[in-house]
Amino acid sequence: MLIRSVDLPYVCGVKSVLPKTGKPEFVLAGRSNVGKSSFVNALLQRKSFARTSSTPGKTRTINFYAVNDAFFLVDLPGYGYAKTGPVEQEKWDRLIRRYLSEGEDIEEVILLLDSRRVPNEMDLQMFQWILAATGYEPIVIITKMDKLKRSQHAKAIKEIREKLGASKDCMMIPFSAETKSGREEFLELVDKILRE
Ligand code: GTP
Ligand code: MG
Repeated sequence: MLIRSVDLPYVCGVKSVLPKTGKPEFVLAGRSNVGKSSFVNALLQRKSFARTSSTPGKTRTINFYAVNDAFFLVDLPGYGYAKTGPVEQEKWDRLIRRYLSEGEDIEEVILLLDSRRVPNEMDLQMFQWILAATGYEPIVIITKMDKLKRSQHAKAIKEIREKLGASKDCMMIPFSAETKSGREEFLELVDKILRE
């Protein structure tokens, strides 16, 4: 898929009314710092269109990136980042839950997991939540593959699959925002879904 145009028409905070985009939305969910915003930049071939940071908790709004006027990539704030305090965190969780359960144009919820980490309780909950809400296992993107040695790749993916209790059909795409490996595979998948 060629990226012909990108735009950021909607940015939502806790008090925002969620937009009705009328286009398929591919939502990126995952722990703070897993690499959601870097994934957006790598896909869109923009260095820092989505703001990223080595400190967790960078994305504080729901950002709707319009691609080719055909679909949206939706960058969510990460979960599992408590520095904001429980009251603030609860407001965010509520906004994310509201969007995930009421968003009428959500086509796929994509779960991002760090290749170097065993999925934690929140990751497992998110996986199960997406499965229950959509009836399908989410597409899983395994991020930061460049941080592993080649020889560790297969084992890391196998361990994540086992910990999630994912079926053998569950689609897992190893990805690196550094080397861009996995980029084409994901975009082709989006293309296929859009044509269905
Ligand atoms: P929040 O907005 O806090 O939820 O985080 P996020 O999931 O959007 O993570 P972000 O994209 O900001 O990346 C977090 C850190 O990981 C940054 O320092 C990135 O440069 C780094 N990072 C993300 N993806 C990769 C990758 O594929 N390889 C390497 N080496 N670093 C990565
Ligand atoms: Mg982010």
